[in-house]
Amino acid sequence: MKVKVTDLVLRDGHQSLIATRMRTEDMLPIAPLMDEIGYWSVEMWGGATFDTCLRFLKEDPWERITKLKKEMPNTPFQMLLRGQNIVGYRHYSDDIVEKFVEKACERGIDVFRIFDALNDPRNLQTAMRAVKKNGGVVEAGISYTISPVHDIPYYLKFARRLQELGADTICIKDMAGLISPMDAYELVKQLREETALPVHFHSHTTSGMALPATFKAVEAGAEIVDTAISSFSMGTSHSPTETVVAMLRGTEWDTGLDLKKLAEIAEYFKGVRKKYAAFESEHIAIDTDVLIYQIPGGMMSNFKNQLREAKKEDKLSEVFLEVPRVKADMGHIPLVTPTSQIVGNQAVLNVIYGERYKVTSNEIKNLVRGLYGKTPVEIAPDIRRKIIGDETPITVRPADLLEPEFDKQAKEAGPLAKTVEDVLSYALFPQVAPEFFKDREMNEKGLNLKDLAAVAAMYMRSTERKIDVKTGGNVDQWSAAARRESVGNGGWLV
Ligand code: CO
Repeated sequence: MKVKVTDLVLRDGHQSLIATRMRTEDMLPIAPLMDEIGYWSVEMWGGATFDTCLRFLKEDPWERITKLKKEMPNTPFQMLLRGQNIVGYRHYSDDIVEKFVEKACERGIDVFRIFDALNDPRNLQTAMRAVKKNGGVVEAGISYTISPVHDIPYYLKFARRLQELGADTICIKDMAGLISPMDAYELVKQLREETALPVHFHSHTTSGMALPATFKAVEAGAEIVDTAISSFSMGTSHSPTETVVAMLRGTEWDTGLDLKKLAEIAEYFKGVRKKYAAFESEHIAIDTDVLIYQIPGGMMSNFKNQLREAKKEDKLSEVFLEVPRVKADMGHIPLVTPTSQIVGNQAVLNVIYGERYKVTSNEIKNLVRGLYGKTPVEIAPDIRRKIIGDETPITVRPADLLEPEFDKQAKEAGPLAKTVEDVLSYALFPQVAPEFFKDREMNEKGLNLKDLAAVAAMYMRSTERKIDVKTGGNVDQWSAAARRESVGNGGWLV
């Protein structure tokens, strides 16, 4: 069986290494060559890209799909969708999820990798149904973690449920790079026996195990593997595409991809990566902490920043020990957006205040209230009481409590939101989208007299932020503050 390849350079690759800052203009020149390769898909949207487009790059995320599709019409496009959280950090109502999927399909997304941080199938069902309805490929993701409850029977049960909900393929999403080669082998083998669905293997090279794990996953029957072109591979990113292609060459799993063409693509992205040097993650080599504490590299820089602000830098090793404890307290939830942020923050608070759960964030309260879904195991009553007192957690699907919100959002967004896509951008990022719309309007109209005052005001704002309005700024102009923000942000988002 030929193994198929998904290249992640245009989404997870740059999200993992340069805080998701790659601009569309740096993707377009190489897109025609990428289109010749014969990838199963190219992941180029979703995850943190939507947020960074609007927030930092001043780009319309929806336009990225349209522009890229024109340059690579033959390659299926893939996105990462956080279930009911879409590409944001809270639960959205079903009508927003449905409209988002419809528009993403219309623009050209073919494969939707849908996952939920808690592996609660109820958080995937609306998105899965919507993708089916719009003719897309439903790739249902299993958020992989290691805990006393996350054994093979647990994953098989979840996969069966995903199959019932209409999954076309199953993705093992090992976002922290924790899976060992033999664990990958066993899991893939049993998933294949249990569901007969194609298995798509996703891991990160954070701990250094991803390459052998990919090989064992293939040996066990994984049909599709995730890689990133070498110049955007390794560290907290992924196995290099060329290495995987070479590793399988001449075997029954030969990918058939052309190494010479891949080398050209690698060369191109080498240059692109240099442009974004200011955003490079500190964690580009092997991270031994992830092997011991299961804390992915990106979370580490956030801890350091938070502890520095509280003048408790000496407490870092205590935070390392506290993260797995909070994770266990929260019913052994996997750590991936948004749970990685919630658990990470709470671990820092517990250490800073010297007493566990003395101070708690709203997010962790909502997690305990059941508003993010059902945790893998129930949260112990004493922990629950410390965080939400006598409140009773909900047991229904969280989105069942949400009223349809599209019409309300459309009204709130006002005339600057021109399309359904704009309303969705606003609904997802209400603090960021309005400024983006305003800037876009100014750029389109140009500098006529009527707008001069507003443009001057905008210019003042933009120089304060050291970002050029027209181009969104050349990366080396970005301030140190933006860089700090980027490292923190990029690290949390997986
Ligand atoms: Co990933």
